[in-house]
Amino acid sequence: MKEKQNNTPVPYQEIANPITDKTVKQNTNQLREKARHGRLDFWSEMSKNISWFEEWNTILDDSKAPFYRWFNDGKLNASFNCVDRHISGWRKNKAAIIFEGDRGDRRVLTYQDLYREVNQFADVLKKLGTKRGDVVTIYMPMLPEAVIAMLACARIGAPHSVVFGGFSPGALKDRIEDSNSKVLITADGGYRKGKVVPLKDNVDKALEGSNCQSIKNVVVVNRTGQDIHMEQDRDLWYSDLINDAALYCEPEVMDAEDPLFILYSSGTTGKPKGILHTTGGYMVGVHTTFKHIFDYQEQDVYWCTADIGWITGHSYIVYGPLANGATTVLFEGTPDFPAQNRFWSIIEKYGVSIFYTAPTAIRMFMRWGEEWLAGHDLSSLRILGSVGEPINPEVWMWYYKYIGGEKCPVMDTWWQTETGMILITPLPGDASFKPGSASRAFPGVDVDVVDEQGKPVKPGEQGYLVVNTPYPAMLRNLYKDPERYLSTYWQQYEGIYLAGDGAKKDEDGSIWCIGRIDDVINVSGHRLGTAEIESALVEHPAVAEAAVIGKKHELKGQAVSAFVTLKESHNGSDELVAELKKLVVSKIGALARPEDIYFTAELPKTRSGKIIRRLLRDIAEGKVIGDTTTLMDPDIINSIKDKYAAKAS
Ligand code: WTA
Repeated sequence: MKEKQNNTPVPYQEIANPITDKTVKQNTNQLREKARHGRLDFWSEMSKNISWFEEWNTILDDSKAPFYRWFNDGKLNASFNCVDRHISGWRKNKAAIIFEGDRGDRRVLTYQDLYREVNQFADVLKKLGTKRGDVVTIYMPMLPEAVIAMLACARIGAPHSVVFGGFSPGALKDRIEDSNSKVLITADGGYRKGKVVPLKDNVDKALEGSNCQSIKNVVVVNRTGQDIHMEQDRDLWYSDLINDAALYCEPEVMDAEDPLFILYSSGTTGKPKGILHTTGGYMVGVHTTFKHIFDYQEQDVYWCTADIGWITGHSYIVYGPLANGATTVLFEGTPDFPAQNRFWSIIEKYGVSIFYTAPTAIRMFMRWGEEWLAGHDLSSLRILGSVGEPINPEVWMWYYKYIGGEKCPVMDTWWQTETGMILITPLPGDASFKPGSASRAFPGVDVDVVDEQGKPVKPGEQGYLVVNTPYPAMLRNLYKDPERYLSTYWQQYEGIYLAGDGAKKDEDGSIWCIGRIDDVINVSGHRLGTAEIESALVEHPAVAEAAVIGKKHELKGQAVSAFVTLKESHNGSDELVAELKKLVVSKIGALARPEDIYFTAELPKTRSGKIIRRLLRDIAEGKVIGDTTTLMDPDIINSIKDKYAAKAS
């Protein structure tokens, strides 16, 4: 270990790039060089790698900033870019999707297969009355049909709203209601660790009674064959519909700024925000970043382990890889079924050359031990990626050494649902890598770390991560909520995007992302808003008030911890803890289940009545309590601390 001076947070020595191939280095240098000559020229050149029905006229229209428009007047279709343009030549027979099911079943869809089924399902959606601009909700396990459904929506110009399959009926209902979808696409179930997951039951619960009036049809993909309820006139089998569908469906000619999808993501307050992405800029952004960050080559087999319910799945399982004509692995299962070597056997089986996963998964692999790698040939790997949360330097080193065999550089990629594409990352041809640093802005992107006043911080000082200039894949708005778009991202600094993350820069300008500075919790790389969990808790009749924090967790990065005050005449008990945990799972989903719940007489508040979660976090993490001067009653914090310590011991 080498400690650098100057406060620089570098716990490990820089790792020289193990790639010796000169062309990789040249490509990286050329890309950085191009962007140095001008951001807009750079993106203009990158836009040529996308197929346009009509060329755009203006690259960036900032007349209504921060409601930016990219590639004005350009016409294209995202599904055309992901399938049609690959089937005229030999790629027609190339594997587009290699699907590996939980139980080891496999399906390979060539580009021709994918093209055909996307067309058929697009025709199905049209016949169900879906029009351009109608939002379609997709609530699916990791199945090829989930990708087909997304591309079919894109084909007919219907923005999709994918809801993560692990979300509860309540969360699904909220998202359907907000988007006013008429069609919901789901499956009879999925498999997880060999067992059937009853997804359709969740759908039925979400649509029960007078809920979700907007839904007219539910399309059910046949996956598990389990007995499910099919509501007459509403629920239809995917296979029946496909059998009757036309083989070709003309792609809609979409404007560059027509919406491609909405993806709900947690924010600091209130309900999840519908983050809106449009067609042209998003496609240019994800095509470019996928190609260059992973040094994508035609013969690669690429595997991103995210779920399509998150932005990583959208941009780097579906749109980025398919726009490039890549082979993308789609995995339904979990890393520990049937045994803890599942991932390594998949990499070996398919000869995966680019592997993109999350630090939380790598931490788990570390805990399970290197023994699980024994006997697996991972020599097909060339490039590794990490996303979702800061990667601890020792985790980076383990990933590099044991998975990459010290020959694959690790791309630590920082980005958000909002950014649509990776913004901070090393590139595969860089001279060296700093374990734990996401390095610097992708070419054509301008990020910085600033203080409260917006002044760039000095090396080693912590500040706020911001994006100074617009870039093609950025969100365009929050669905039906432009006010919140402005106040969430653009209010702090004039014309500058506030990411909501804390970060540092070192004296070389490398960026070290620290984590959220707002009330968003990152559990295993999944975003949860404290407000959502708190609202679930206060729905319980015994609860007066709740404050939720993210507490450091060895494997998950952060775990949900709740401080709850009860109404008079109610007492805390183990049963109540269990009830409250169950309530959160039923309202949001298993990933939001509080790890622990503490009952407290009062919560620390400012004089204006705002709960100071930062102090609760200090208590939960056993830290020295931070500044309490703004507290209305500073004694409260000591009493909570004492009780917490007594309970935890
Ligand atoms: C965090 C996921 C550090 C960050 C793509 C961000 C990271 C939030 C990294 C977005 C990284 C993501 N290093 N932190 N490489 N990647 N994050 O919207 O706090 O689910 O704001 O998008 O994840 O989460 P989201």
